[in-house]
Amino acid sequence: MDDLWKEFESIKDNKNKLPEFHKKLSTLKFLDPACGCGNFLVITYRELRLLELEILRASNKTGQRVFDVREIIHLDVDMMCGIEYEEFPARIAEVAMWLIDHQMNMQISNEFGQYFVRLPLKKSAKIIHADALETDWENVVSKNELSFIIGNPPFIGSKIMKQSQRDQIVKEFDNADGSGVLDYVTGWYIKAAKYIQNIKIKVAFVSTNSIVQGEQTSILWGQMLNKYKIKIHFAHRTFKWSNEAKGNAAVYCVIVGFANYDTNSKSIFEYEDIRGEAHEIKAKNINPYLVDAKDIFVGKRRKPICNIPEISFGSMPNDGGNFLFTDEEKNAFIEQEPKAEKFFSPLISAHEFLNGHKRWCLWLKNANPTDLKETKLVTERVENVRKLRAESNRQATQKLASFPTLFGEDRQPDSDYVLIPLHSSENRKYIPMGFFNKNSIANNSCSFIPNAKLYHFGILMSAIHMAWVKNMCGRIKSDYRY
Ligand SMILES: C[S@@+](CC[C@H](N)C(=O)[O-])C[C@H]1O[C@@H](n2cnc3c(N)ncnc32)[C@H](O)[C@@H]1O
Repeated sequence: MDDLWKEFESIKDNKNKLPEFHKKLSTLKFLDPACGCGNFLVITYRELRLLELEILRASNKTGQRVFDVREIIHLDVDMMCGIEYEEFPARIAEVAMWLIDHQMNMQISNEFGQYFVRLPLKKSAKIIHADALETDWENVVSKNELSFIIGNPPFIGSKIMKQSQRDQIVKEFDNADGSGVLDYVTGWYIKAAKYIQNIKIKVAFVSTNSIVQGEQTSILWGQMLNKYKIKIHFAHRTFKWSNEAKGNAAVYCVIVGFANYDTNSKSIFEYEDIRGEAHEIKAKNINPYLVDAKDIFVGKRRKPICNIPEISFGSMPNDGGNFLFTDEEKNAFIEQEPKAEKFFSPLISAHEFLNGHKRWCLWLKNANPTDLKETKLVTERVENVRKLRAESNRQATQKLASFPTLFGEDRQPDSDYVLIPLHSSENRKYIPMGFFNKNSIANNSCSFIPNAKLYHFGILMSAIHMAWVKNMCGRIKSDYRY
C-alpha cells in the first residue's frame, strides 16, 4: 500500500496521470492463499477504496455533479481472491468482502450525496474452499492477472504438525535433505515462489520468526534463493503480534516481502522494542536472516570444524518426576531413609542454574543392587518409574522399563564439563555458562561440553560468539534456544 500511496502522491496534481493511476488500481488483483475469515483481504480492499476516494478527490470529482456514481467507482470485490481450508471461514470471508464493500459504498454516498449500493450483488470475491498446498493457484486466479500474494498462512511448528502435513511440505521441497524439520508455513513460501516464476507478482507473508533463524533458514531460503531466484524486497524483523482471538497467545512474527526480480529499494524494519513501532533502514541486500548482508546460508552440521570437544545434550530422566528432588524434598527423604543419601547427585537443569537454586536426583547408575534393596523408599521410586515407562504409548519408552534404575537417556560425561542452558533470555548480553564436575548430572534442559577448558569457555563468553547467537541461533519466542 505504501508504494501505491507514494505513487499517488507523486501524480496527484497531474490531471492526465490520475485516470491512468485509477485504471491501474482497478486492475490489481490480490490472493490470500490461507485467507481464514478474510481479514487481510478486507483490510487491503478497504485501503484501496480509500485510495480510490483520494483519487476522486484529487480529480475534483467529489466537487462535481456526478450523474451516476457507479460510473466513477472502478474498484470492486472481485479483485480479491482467497483459498481457505475450512469451509465456514471461507464463506465468512466472501460475505465479509460484501460488507466492507457496502461500508465503503456508504462513505462514497456521503461524499457524493447520492445513495450508492451494489444491489443485486453481481460480483463477489473469489474464495475457494480447498487445501492451498494441493491446489493449483492458477485455477484460482491466473498469474497474468495477479499483482500481489498476501496473508499469514498457518503457524504450525514442524514438531506439532500432522504427518500428512509434513508429507505435503517435504513434497513441496522435492524431498530435499532436512525438509522434514520445516514449519507448515514454509509450504506457502515455496509454493508462492514457484507460482511467481518469471512474472512480476509481489508476495508478502506474516509468519513466525522460526523461518529466518536456526536450522530451517538454510533449507527454506536455500531453495527460495538458489532454485527459484527469489529476492527479498522488504522485511520486518521480529515483532510481537497478539491478536484479539480468545485464548490466542502472542506470536513472535516476521514479515517477508519478496519477488522473482530484484529491486534497488529494499527496506528492513527493525523493532528495538518488539512490542513497539518499527523503524525503517534502507538495505542493499536482505539475506535470509533478514540482515543487510550477503546471501549466506549457515547449514546444519554435527561435527565441529576444528579440533575441539563436541557438545552434547544433557541426560533426560523420563521418570515422571520420581528421581527429582528439591533441597527440602531431598532432606525429608533422607530423614526417612538415611541410607539413601549416597544415591543423590546434584542435578543441574537450566532453570536452577540460571536462578541459583539447587536440585537433586537419584543417580543409580553405579548403585549396588544389594544396597538398593535395603532402601525401601528408593526401591519404591524405581518401581514407579518402571510402571510409568511400561504403561507408555511409545515403544521406545516401554523398552526403558527394563532399566528402571537409569535415566531414560544417560549422556552424563565421565569428565568435568562446561554447562550451557539451552533456553535463556534474549535480554542477556551473554548466555551464562558454568564449569561443573563429573558428579553433577547435566539435565536435558542443558547441553554440555566435556573436557572444556578455559579457552573454550572464553570463546563462548566472547562478543563474537554472542553476535553469532543473536543472528544464527535458534529461538523460542524471541529467547535464545542454544
Ligand atoms: C493464521 S490463519 C489466517 C487468518 C486470516 N488472515 C484471517 O483473516 O482470518 C491461517 C488460516 O489458514 C488455514 N489453513 C490451514 N491449512 C490450510 C491449507 N492447507 N490450505 C488452506 N488454508 C489452510 C486455516 O484454516 C486458517 O484459517
